Amino acid sequence: NIYGDRQNSLGRDYSQAADRERHAKALERVDSEKLTSGPIIGGKLKAGVNPQDVTNPFDRSQVLGHVSEASVEDVDAAVMAAANAQVAWDRIGGAGRAPILRAMADVLEADMDRLVALLSREAGKTLNDGVAEVREAADFCRYYALLAERDFGGRQTLKGPTGETNELVLHGRGVFAAISPWNFPLAIFTGQIAAALAAGNAVVAKPAEQTPLIAAEAVRLFYKAGLNPDLLALVPGRGEIVGAALTAHPGIDGVAFTGGTDTASAINRGLAARPGAIIPFIAETGGLNAMFVDTTALKEQVIDDVILSAFGSAGQRCSALRILYAPKEAADALIEGLKGALATQILGDPTETKSDIGPVIDAESRANLEAHVARLSKEAKIVARAELPAGADKGDLFAPTIAEIPTPDFLEREVFGPILHVYRYDSKDLKSVAAKLAARGYGLTLGVHSRIEAFADEVVRLVPAGNVYVNRSIIGAVVGVQPFGGEGLSGTGPKAGGPNSLIRYAAEKAISVNI
Ligand code: NAD
Ligand code: ALA
Repeated sequence: NIYGDRQNSLGRDYSQAADRERHAKALERVDSEKLTSGPIIGGKLKAGVNPQDVTNPFDRSQVLGHVSEASVEDVDAAVMAAANAQVAWDRIGGAGRAPILRAMADVLEADMDRLVALLSREAGKTLNDGVAEVREAADFCRYYALLAERDFGGRQTLKGPTGETNELVLHGRGVFAAISPWNFPLAIFTGQIAAALAAGNAVVAKPAEQTPLIAAEAVRLFYKAGLNPDLLALVPGRGEIVGAALTAHPGIDGVAFTGGTDTASAINRGLAARPGAIIPFIAETGGLNAMFVDTTALKEQVIDDVILSAFGSAGQRCSALRILYAPKEAADALIEGLKGALATQILGDPTETKSDIGPVIDAESRANLEAHVARLSKEAKIVARAELPAGADKGDLFAPTIAEIPTPDFLEREVFGPILHVYRYDSKDLKSVAAKLAARGYGLTLGVHSRIEAFADEVVRLVPAGNVYVNRSIIGAVVGVQPFGGEGLSGTGPKAGGPNSLIRYAAEKAISVNI
């Protein structure tokens, strides 16, 4: 077993008073700290430009800290420092790098309560989502440490008929740009960096505009874990300014991106236009994720799994359920059940243990979602909307919504938030319904609820998806056992948290010696 006795990270249990007390103390600390983020180069926080307040999406009057943007000169200095440090880091091999990644997992776990509090305050994560995110970040580090030891050690001998010795060696490519989204501001941010570092690269990381504080904390934790600060720089700022300057920098040897499909296309076009360079591009993007249910499915289980998949994390997971395909014979009962279950969800302050659903990330996102609901009320049928609690307007709480759509391909693109679309299908039309969905070109997550294996097999054959879930929710892939990532418009691969995750972060050298 190449993975040895690897264990996934452990969490918190907020039904226990001790864990609740630790959380309350951590929240107090985060609220009093007034954190600072900005360009961090060679381990030092620089002054940066364009200073901004960072506020709480649940209550915009709460200022959590400040961020300043990296300048073009900062991006240049970060890439240069990274390039100088990378050669020695590559040379020490996977066995030399793995202890730093394991130490990072340990410091993440040691700081779990504070990180969870910050994830709630800055990104609107509920406590359970925050815990899951810290655990995932730690899991990425430990898992990629194992892959580093497995694949970046000695030389792999390739036996054959040539009469020579033939060996294969993997090594880092150089400096990776790591560009990440706000919806997993710790797990994806850390996962991209850990993968690039494990493969022998240095990293310049550009976090999402909305979540610069947690990114700066993660960078500081990498340093605390013993990483040479020159190997990891942070360049916060606007995507079209700082992100664009980073991907255009001639010292960049690869780009790891997670975010929207349109952003990935824009970056890809920019990379393709660079003269004299072919830059590897790893993109993990959005999805038009569906679940197909048949008449044999267990209604109560479907309802639980749909509510979690569509509304958990306020629908702000790339894996989240967007369209439920319900068989016409069972659709009324399912919709009634979903309405009832939605009414029991508690919307509110994500730092409180009772909250099921927190705010969406910002006012722009809330406005886009409201505009989509306005379209649904004209062109489709709203069947349920959750009640917003009193005082919701102090931040960006959005009322989760269920709508029935008139056609199977009503949604052209991902709608990123807690809106579930339901389409009633006739089982004799399964093939054409699935074909219309598939024609949209996405391929991230797919759910099936059925007790008939042949039905599940057929849906899986008809609908492209990188992650398929049968008779369960479609969110929450676990590092090392459910490698995550899509196909088509949903991403290039390799999957995160899987045995092949590091391959595109690496270059391969074949060495043949005639003896
Ligand atoms: P986004 O595309 O708006 O931004 C992602 C990152 O790209 C940010 O850091 C942003 O500043 C940067 N960026 C924007 N324009 C850029 C440019 N021209 N050049 C370089 N960088 C640029 O995405 P978001 O709103 O932060 O995140 C939500 C999206 O991410 C959703 O579509 C979601 O599905 C997707 N996502 C995918 C996965 C996955 O694994 N497939 C995981 C999480 C999120
Ligand atoms: N990896 C995350 C999930 O599976 C996005 O929900």
